[in-house]
Amino acid sequence: MALPSRVYLNGEFMPAESARISVFDRGFVFGDGVYEVVPVYGGRPFRLAHHLRRLEASLTAIRIANPMAHGKWEEVFHELIREHGAIDQSIYLQVTRGVAPRDHAFPAHVVPTVFAYAQPLTYPTPDQLRTGVTAITVPDMRWLRCDIKAIVLLANVLLREQAIENGSAEAILVRDDCLTEGAASNIFIASGGILATPPKGPFILPGITRDLVIELANHNNVPCIEREIRRAELLAADEVWMTSSTKEILPIVRIDGQAVGDGRPGPLHTHLQTLYQDYKHAFRRGEVE
Ligand code: PDD
Repeated sequence: MALPSRVYLNGEFMPAESARISVFDRGFVFGDGVYEVVPVYGGRPFRLAHHLRRLEASLTAIRIANPMAHGKWEEVFHELIREHGAIDQSIYLQVTRGVAPRDHAFPAHVVPTVFAYAQPLTYPTPDQLRTGVTAITVPDMRWLRCDIKAIVLLANVLLREQAIENGSAEAILVRDDCLTEGAASNIFIASGGILATPPKGPFILPGITRDLVIELANHNNVPCIEREIRRAELLAADEVWMTSSTKEILPIVRIDGQAVGDGRPGPLHTHLQTLYQDYKHAFRRGEVE
């Protein structure tokens, strides 16, 4: 994918090649910052209030005051969306603590760095949706605050790369024999017609797509439980899916070389995928928020 040509940086929209950030920015030096990825459908940011609430929670957790009111964030997104032009796209935003001499302790006076851009949205291919993808399970070696959408993604990067090198699309992370989430996704299983996904807490990112899948299941009488899921249950499930703003609901049909169910995307995936796409279309028409 090509680099975006326009960005927003600290109050200004500019060509990406003109954007300058200090090498002393704590985002660069410490990974001291948080981010969001917001899909845009029909020119409108999808589940915007949810993303801004999660941004607020991440900022609060790392004790950075939100540098902009929600209305101002919306203005920035609309300008980026307008400049980018595509009907569907995605917004990346990140806030770091700002520029200061290198010292682990918080600097006394510092102004957060605010950076955002729009880029093309890459959906799973029709082939991936039809045949599903494969995954591996790996120990979750990340820290104990995975609920914060922190820019420090070194563990996630290494884990995803391990999956790729294994010929898989995702690494499913396991902590104390229970699955937490994917390297960059949340995980659902379906067993006996019942959906399950690990509960929110410090070990997973509270995914916006995850919440929408649960909401759609609840509204359409598909039983869905948030509970601990053991690795053995994952491997014995009828269906397994990964969810994220960019992957939407992607079926996983093989884990650690073993087929999930009959090795093909299952009927509950088809059902929820249809509900999800219908919801997106309704959003594009302005019928739902
Ligand atoms: N990542 N868990 C992790 C660790 C993630 O990085 C992501 C998404 C999710 C799913 O969250 P959501 O449904 O809100 O996208 C769960 C984004 C897409 C990324 O880092 O690019």
